[in-house]
Amino acid sequence: MEFDKSASEYNKILNGALTASGYGWDFFARYKARFITNLVGAGFDGKILDYGCGIGNLESFLKPLLPKARLDGHDVSTESLQRIDPSLLHQGVFTSDMQRLDANYDLIVVANVFHHIVPTSRQATIETLRERLGSAGRLIIFEHNPLNPLTRLSVRLSPIDKNAQLVSAKPMMTMMRRAGFSEIDRRFIVFFPKMLSWLQPLEPRLSWLPLGAQYVLISKK
Ligand SMILES: C[S@@+](CC[C@H](N)C(=O)[O-])C[C@H]1O[C@@H](n2cnc3c(N)ncnc32)[C@H](O)[C@@H]1O
Repeated sequence: MEFDKSASEYNKILNGALTASGYGWDFFARYKARFITNLVGAGFDGKILDYGCGIGNLESFLKPLLPKARLDGHDVSTESLQRIDPSLLHQGVFTSDMQRLDANYDLIVVANVFHHIVPTSRQATIETLRERLGSAGRLIIFEHNPLNPLTRLSVRLSPIDKNAQLVSAKPMMTMMRRAGFSEIDRRFIVFFPKMLSWLQPLEPRLSWLPLGAQYVLISKK
């Protein structure tokens, strides 16, 4: 998937695609940045790889929350990488070339990428990412939850998701186990559309319920 659009045009398309939930791209990027910060702790000073980083939306929220961390990114789309904020390019490596990346990341984030990877390549992708983790490194995968009807509608409406093939948490976990990850923490997130956002404080208590708009899988190497 190549995006020959400016960062703001791309985000406008994303916003159009997310009207089913009522939230824009920035809500999801901020949500994930906070989630990751809670996971690693605000003083974290290790290395994070964002695999499928796109135009760096997650990094723009994550860097201010984790100022001591080094953020690297990989994406198959060189057009997207060219639109990453220069301040992020100065503190880490953003590339399409896996050879330029490290092999001992403390955390690898894969946010809404697997539905763009053809099913036959997903297992190999997880295995490659596991090899890039340090000995106590963690993999965190955010994905659209196909069991949520608003998620399915959003994906159907989005031009960016034209060729997307959604993947449920269960087969993703099976692939992770096959790659060698044993204990996998699974949480469902984003249960309430914007009009019900005042119910958000209830979300942590619902993380077991497979109806959130997205799911998160976290596992140590
Ligand atoms: C929906 S965007 C998500 C971007 C970013 N992770 C975020 O959450 O804002 C999906 C991204 O995955 C990238 N992508 C698709 N297949 C990929 C692959 N096999 N390896 C790395 N990135 C890939 C696309 O180029 C695109 O930037």
